[in-house]
Amino acid sequence: MGGNITSCMFEPPREGPRRAAITGVATYAPQRVVTNADLTHTLDTSDEWIVSRTGIRERRIGAPGETTSTMGAEAVRRLMAAKGLGPDDVDLLIVATVTPDMLFPATACLIQDQVGLPRAWGFDLSAACSGFLYALTTGAQFIAAGAHRRVVVVGADLMSAIIDPTDRTTAVLFGDGAGAVLLEQAADGFGILDFHHRVDGSGRDDLLMPAGGSLKPASAETVAAREHFLRQNGRVVFKFAVSQMAWSVELLLRRNGLTAADLAVVIPHQANQRILDATADRLGLPRERMASVIGRYGNTTAATLPLALEDVLQGGRLSRGDLAVFVAVGAGFTVGATLVRWDC
Ligand code: UT7
Repeated sequence: MGGNITSCMFEPPREGPRRAAITGVATYAPQRVVTNADLTHTLDTSDEWIVSRTGIRERRIGAPGETTSTMGAEAVRRLMAAKGLGPDDVDLLIVATVTPDMLFPATACLIQDQVGLPRAWGFDLSAACSGFLYALTTGAQFIAAGAHRRVVVVGADLMSAIIDPTDRTTAVLFGDGAGAVLLEQAADGFGILDFHHRVDGSGRDDLLMPAGGSLKPASAETVAAREHFLRQNGRVVFKFAVSQMAWSVELLLRRNGLTAADLAVVIPHQANQRILDATADRLGLPRERMASVIGRYGNTTAATLPLALEDVLQGGRLSRGDLAVFVAVGAGFTVGATLVRWDC
C-alpha cells in the first residue's frame, strides 16, 4: 500500500463560497415504449381511465440487462459529450435512486466504473421522488464551499424492477429513465438562489417497498406476500402532494420577494397531471407554465425532473436570466423546492 494515498486524493477548498448553477443536462430513456393499450392486455384497466386520472399515455420500460446504473451511465456519457468533458473533469457523482442495482455497492460506484471517471468520488442518495432535488442541493454545497468544480447529479430509476405487474393501481403509473445534470460555479446573481426541504416520516406507510431491507429481509414469505413491490396509498399521497408542492413553491417565492408571475416555468416532479394542474391553480400560475412530460414517461421517480428540464430547454421555455422553480414530493414523505436563475 502506498503511504500517502489519502493526501493524494484529498482536495482542499479552492475558493470561497459561490453559488452553483446547472450548466448542462442529458437524459436517457429505454427504447421500448409501453402504451396504455398495451397494459389493457394484462390488466383490468383502460386508456380512458389512465389518461383521465393521471395524464399518462405511455412509458418506457428497460430491456433485459438494462439497470439503473446502465441508464444512469448513458445519461452521464451524453452529458459529458454535450459539455465536452473528459474523464478527469468530474469531481463528484451523486446518484439519486430508489432502485439501485444492488443495496450495495452504491450505484454511483457502478456508474463511475462504467463511464470511467478516475478522479470522481460519489455516493447514492435515497429520497424517492424528491431524490433528484435532494441530490441537487447536496451537490450544490460542494460547489458553494469551493471544494469541487464539477459535480454530476444523476436521477435514475428502473421502476419496472419494483412494480407489481399484476397491480393495476401502480403498474400503470411508473416507467424507467435517467437524467444527469452538471453543476458548476454560477455567474454572480445566477444559479441556485434558494432551496427548501422537509421530511415527514409519518408518511412512511403510504408509499413504500415493505421488504428487502433490515426490517424484513428477503425470505420465501416476503416474496409470496409480494412485499418486494412498491405499495402506495394513492389518495393520501395525492392530497399530500398537492398541498405540499404549492406550499413549497409559495414559501420560496415569499421569502425571495417574488410572485408566481415572476417564474418562466415551474418544473415539478411528474406523478400525476391532476397534481400538476391543481398545484398550478393553487399558485395562480397558468397551467402551461407547469412543465409536463408525464404523458410520455409516466412517473420515473428520481428521473422525472431532468427529463422535464430537458424538455423545457428543448422547447425554448427557459433562457438565461429566467427564474424557475423545481418542486417535488415523494415517499417518506420527502419534500423539496429549488429556486434558480437560469445560467446557460
Ligand atoms: O411519485 C410519488 C408520489 N405519488 C403520487 O403522487 C401519486 C398520487 N396519487 C395518485 O396519483 C392517484 O391517487 C392515483 C392515480 C394513484 C389513483 O387515482 P385516484 O383518482 O385517487 O383513484 P382511486 O385510488 O381513488 O381509485 C378510484 C377507482 C377505484 O375503484 P372503486 O374502488 O371506486 O371501484 C380503483 O379500484 O379506480 C380504480 N382503479 C383503476 N381502474 C382502472 C385504480 N387503478 C385503476 C386502473 N384502471 N389502473
